[in-house]
Amino acid sequence: MIQFENVTLTYGGAAAVRDLNFTVAPGEFVAVIGANGAGKTTVSKLMNGLLKPTSGRVLLDGVPTTALRTSVLARKIGFLFQNPDRQLCKPTIREEIAFGLALTGRKDAAARTEAVLREFGFDGSRDPFSASRGERQRIALASLIAVEPEVLILDEPTTGLDYRECMAMMARVQSLNAAGTTVVMVCHDMELVLDFARRTLVLKDGTLLLDGETRSVFRNTDVLRRASVLPPQITRLSLRLGDRLQPADTVEEMEAAIRAARQKGVPA
Ligand SMILES: Nc1ncnc2c1ncn2[C@@H]1O[C@H](COP(=O)(O)OP(=O)(O)OP(=O)(O)O)[C@@H](O)[C@H]1O
Ligand SMILES: [Mg+2]
Repeated sequence: MIQFENVTLTYGGAAAVRDLNFTVAPGEFVAVIGANGAGKTTVSKLMNGLLKPTSGRVLLDGVPTTALRTSVLARKIGFLFQNPDRQLCKPTIREEIAFGLALTGRKDAAARTEAVLREFGFDGSRDPFSASRGERQRIALASLIAVEPEVLILDEPTTGLDYRECMAMMARVQSLNAAGTTVVMVCHDMELVLDFARRTLVLKDGTLLLDGETRSVFRNTDVLRRASVLPPQITRLSLRLGDRLQPADTVEEMEAAIRAARQKGVPA
């Protein structure tokens, strides 16, 4: 479990995040949204202990991150950087995956490395930097998954991916979540947030404006406007049509809502 207690982090004199209070329970899938500079990356780095609060506490399973050793943090939390090239540092994919495992001190590291290479279909002898952007993202994700962390923190995991790569990435993340991994995802793509995150935190200028079930967050137009976030298109259409249609957030729901309205003879 991740707990933020009155967490503030300042860079120099300026607060990047201010007085944050929230809890993420085991097994949740939480999105963190907000405009550029709202503090999303700062929140994700506070969760994995890369940043320590200036005041307040971040607790993992009840222990402040300031009291946890790096090896413990590495075993508990997998962190996918906004840019995978910040993550990759080894000359071959095999070494890349083995590296993360070595940090955690697992005894089955060699066997686990080979299993992950097979699972992802990687040629372990390849140089990660000869791979495409999407592939490099997959390599970075594979090296995290290899460790089987309790929590996965993903900072804009689908940026730079094409649609197919994006869906493959999200399918994998979703199946890990279904198997019990807690997921916290920073994301600018509201359609993905709607499809995958059950709960959403909205940040603006380092403060938490709203924390709630994703669909109800997207229907809070005032807060989203203040946070400079546009809800997904179907939600916006549904909100605009108001009472004339039953609420819809997906294409399928909108289709059903239109059919239902037609049957009732509501003018289009
Ligand atoms: N290393 C740093 N030194 C000084 N200020 C920083 C540093 N990193 C971030 N900031 C500032 O902290 C605030 C929050 O930044 P953060 O990177 O957390 O935002 P973000 O929501 O992830 O933005 P983006 O959507 O652009 O990734 C911003 O005002 C940013 O300029
Ligand atoms: Mg960021």
